[in-house]
Amino acid sequence: MASTIVGLDFGRGVIRGAEVSGAASARPTLVRYHQIAVPATAVNRGEVLEQETVVAALKQLWSQAGFKTRKVIVGVGNARVLVRELTVPRMPMNRIRETLPFQVQDVLPVPVNEALLDFYPTTESDEDGNPVIHGLLVAAIKESVLGMVEAVEKARLVPVDVDLIPFALTRSVLTGPIAQGAVALVHIGAETTMVVVAVDGVPQFVRIIQNGGDDINRALVSRLGMDEFQAEQIKRRFGLATQGAGPELRPAFEVIYEATGDLVVAIRNTLSFYLSSKAGAAVERVVLSGGGAELNGFATALADATRLPVRAPAPVDRLAIARSVNTDQLSAGSSGVAVAAGLTLGSKA
Ligand SMILES: Nc1ncnc2c1ncn2[C@@H]1O[C@H](COP(=O)(O)OP(=O)(O)OP(=O)(O)O)[C@@H](O)[C@H]1O
Ligand SMILES: [Mg+2]
Repeated sequence: MASTIVGLDFGRGVIRGAEVSGAASARPTLVRYHQIAVPATAVNRGEVLEQETVVAALKQLWSQAGFKTRKVIVGVGNARVLVRELTVPRMPMNRIRETLPFQVQDVLPVPVNEALLDFYPTTESDEDGNPVIHGLLVAAIKESVLGMVEAVEKARLVPVDVDLIPFALTRSVLTGPIAQGAVALVHIGAETTMVVVAVDGVPQFVRIIQNGGDDINRALVSRLGMDEFQAEQIKRRFGLATQGAGPELRPAFEVIYEATGDLVVAIRNTLSFYLSSKAGAAVERVVLSGGGAELNGFATALADATRLPVRAPAPVDRLAIARSVNTDQLSAGSSGVAVAAGLTLGSKA
């Protein structure tokens, strides 16, 4: 059997793994998908806070899922990862990498030696007769990435790579006809939202913003005194589609509307920023993914606010699904497959 690799996505209170074979081929196959709950205090905002708990959870994930490899690619993408557009004179990649510390010291929240830096070239052009390379600079806080890698190694797994979740999503979600042209992929998690603008599937702009689906729960809990379970239930049951509900629910709906409105505005502002950042920048449509985007009525609300066509979250069709995949796990983790499987795509497992 072809060799396989597992993409690992640390969500809020959950770790998800997707084992993929033929990850670099034209038609990769998902062979196993499994997720395991971990206390929210152990993993949050993509960071490992309690190492021992996470190591135990990873071991359990491997035994429950029956993954046939120990090779993993770890996804990163949280408040402590910064992505910025960067244009540099054309030169070899190793030279570009050497210049990165000098390019970023002003935008980083930490000293340069506490960050991991990388550059993803996207396009080339001429500026005033000089050849330049445009691309995305990625700066991640070392401590937070190493926290994940260490937990993975202590679980006796082999981290072969660390990759940015927005890139993983681009590979798994933006394929086929929906990827053509200038597309904004908006992935709404529990604590973070990732906005990627890709042209013909190549990411040009990435922002990770500190808003997510759980903002709504927090608002319901703090303003109406609901418990967390009630808040999640009412959010999922109604979302923005409140027809036919009794008047006693009106205060809850107002809170849901307001919190969702904040999220919509944050996304719209991010897209407006991109559009105004360079000549010729455009967005033709929005593609949604992530659990937070499952909120009833969300796609319509975002379409109204941005005046763009918005596609609701859809299953990942980039991968063939093997019979070995546990379909209960797959449907329970629909928002996680895109990330976990996307991490593996293109890798030479
Ligand atoms: N049907 C639904 N309606 C509304 N919200 C939903 C629905 N399903 C899931 N959510 C919300 O989606 C969010 C979780 O999304 P997701 O699973 O993508 O996040 P995560 O990966 O765990 O977190 P993060 O990416 O922020 O670390 C939660 O806020 C959850 O309440
Ligand atoms: Mg997530």
